[in-house]
Amino acid sequence: MESKLRKPAVIRATPAVLAGLLLAAVAPQLRAENTASSQAKPARQPEVRWTKVNVQLPTSLAVFPAGRGADIANSQCLMCHSADMVLHQPTRTQEQWKDTINKMRTAYGAPLPAEQVDALAAYLSGLNPPAKAGS
Ligand code: HEC
Repeated sequence: MESKLRKPAVIRATPAVLAGLLLAAVAPQLRAENTASSQAKPARQPEVRWTKVNVQLPTSLAVFPAGRGADIANSQCLMCHSADMVLHQPTRTQEQWKDTINKMRTAYGAPLPAEQVDALAAYLSGLNPPAKAGS
């Protein structure tokens, strides 16, 4: 019986509680607006000054060097990192490039179609051929 009475009381009180919370949240902002629009400056207003700055970004090759497969690299590899980043890697064999490219596909989600992996691996290994044993 008692619990039957309590439940509606709680439900009836809920809107009042919500209104109170809303007022508590909004009231400081209303006060802040009032002081901002009045003549007197708020005591501690931070000084904000905008100035021009010059930023020198590192230069990098925008695209992969021309060659068979460059179009694949340019369309499939530049969406996530620069050509420079790919070109400044330790030398890799064609097989190792295949592994790297497949890692880009499976681990990082590169949308390169599977049938382009071989051609791209050949191109990339050709750019920076690994030293042959004994040479
Ligand atoms: C979807 C985003 C994405 C695409 C597309 C992508 N990569 Fe990557 N790649 C990454 C991320 C992320 C890393 C950093 C991995 C790390 O920090 O170890 C990375 C790192 C690399 C590295 C150096 C580190 C390593 O794991 O060997 C090489 C080389 C590389 N990518 C080559 C390529 C080539 C070639 C392509 C074109 C098929 C390509 N990536 C496309 C996300 C991508």
